[in-house]
Amino acid sequence: MAGSVMLPSVSICMALCVFIFFALSLKPLEARQTFGMLSGKPRPRTAAGGICASSVHIYGYKCEEHDVVTQDGYILNMQRIPEGRTGAARTGNGGKRQPVLIQHGILVDGMSWLLNPADQNLPLILADQGFDVWMGNTRGTRFSRRHKNLDPSERAFWNWTWDELVSYDLPAMFDHIHSLTGQKIHYLGHSLGTLIGFASFSEKGLVDKVRSAAMLSPIAYLSHMTTVIGDIAARSFIAEATSIIGLAEFNPKSGIVGGFIKAICLKAGVDCYDLISVITGKNCCLNASTIDLFLANEPQSTSTKNMIHLSQTVRDKELRKYNYGSSDRNIQHYGQAVPPGYNISAIPHDLPLFFSYGGLDRLADVKDVEFLLDQFKFHDVNKMSVQFVKDYAHADFIMGVTAKDVVYNQVATFFKRLA
Ligand SMILES: *[C@@H]1O[C@H](CO)[C@@H](O)[C@H](O)[C@H]1NC(C)=O
Ligand SMILES: *[C@@H]1O[C@H](CO)[C@@H](O)[C@H](O)[C@H]1NC(C)=O
Ligand SMILES: *[C@@H]1O[C@H](CO)[C@@H](O)[C@H](O)[C@H]1NC(C)=O
Repeated sequence: MAGSVMLPSVSICMALCVFIFFALSLKPLEARQTFGMLSGKPRPRTAAGGICASSVHIYGYKCEEHDVVTQDGYILNMQRIPEGRTGAARTGNGGKRQPVLIQHGILVDGMSWLLNPADQNLPLILADQGFDVWMGNTRGTRFSRRHKNLDPSERAFWNWTWDELVSYDLPAMFDHIHSLTGQKIHYLGHSLGTLIGFASFSEKGLVDKVRSAAMLSPIAYLSHMTTVIGDIAARSFIAEATSIIGLAEFNPKSGIVGGFIKAICLKAGVDCYDLISVITGKNCCLNASTIDLFLANEPQSTSTKNMIHLSQTVRDKELRKYNYGSSDRNIQHYGQAVPPGYNISAIPHDLPLFFSYGGLDRLADVKDVEFLLDQFKFHDVNKMSVQFVKDYAHADFIMGVTAKDVVYNQVATFFKRLA
């Protein structure tokens, strides 16, 4: 790719690449021929048998598998690591461990937090620090492809966007944890996990059950990502994805989506692979073994409708519910011509918040995060902690070998201060 000049035609490919950033950005160059394939190396562990069995018990921690059912019938898998390996000191509330819910971002599942050696993984670190750790897996991911009446092979199973993660998935997970522990919950999100947290708290959905929120690589506005991608990109994605894939499963590992991405890149006349570090930002601190594990386990599916909703967020530069594409259809669904917005400033001003964002993150772009932080200018000053990590990009926050010292210990301190 020819250096610094960003041609408009390149932008179409870039949009796609952004959306599959994990699949591609972490792929070592020598293994790049096929999506999700590894060549010539022993196969790293997969999640066969469940996340607890494959990725928590092996490190000597207790772990429980839980299923929760959302109000619209999806059956979501969760993991609970009730205590640390060392029987570490209890935190707060007369010895009761405080629950933390860890929520992953788009195109991955909870296992993405468990790919480094044990002492570098966020869920295990928090368990060792005395927390009752829960991990969510949103609808459509590997262990949450279940529904009371629908099957993933049916289109109706994929008829949702992050609006439904806000309305159904998060409430189901919060209710479950709250009913078992009787305690308020510390929330920790990465990327899309932050977006659904912000959206939810802005609608005052979970505010009676949330104790605090730590937001890593926070996203809510994506307009500066747009300056890299171009408005055409998002529009092109909406039109082409709908016509080629339809409103069904978006599986980055499948032939249709993979072929679709290649076709778009071809059309733009570029080699998608060479653009990757331009797009996600240059992750400073990833371990090659961890990347192999990541590629054996991720990316996970989402719905095409969700991808389209995200494209709308890029294109429209604001945070609204899914746009059905015409005033009439929006009126039919929402009773108004324009989809309702999420008002970030309406998040209760006394909710303790911790932000951590990276100087090299091209998805949670610094300008967008600063705009987001601006929405909190009336937040109680002593309820806001903001950390800027100059050399971090998007994936460093979940897999960086230095993340324990740079970010996770600060998160634990933030949670404990509220004990
Ligand atoms: C990278 O991961 C491997 C396998 O888990 C581990 O043995 C090695 O110590 C890790 N390297 C660093 C720098 O953490
Ligand atoms: C998708 O859900 C909407 C309501 O959220 C409904 O109007 C529409 O008929 C559903 N489509 C399918 C294919 O299930
Ligand atoms: C958003 O919420 C804030 C705080 O409640 C309020 O002052 C503002 O008017 C709201 N904005 C919109 C567009 O509703």
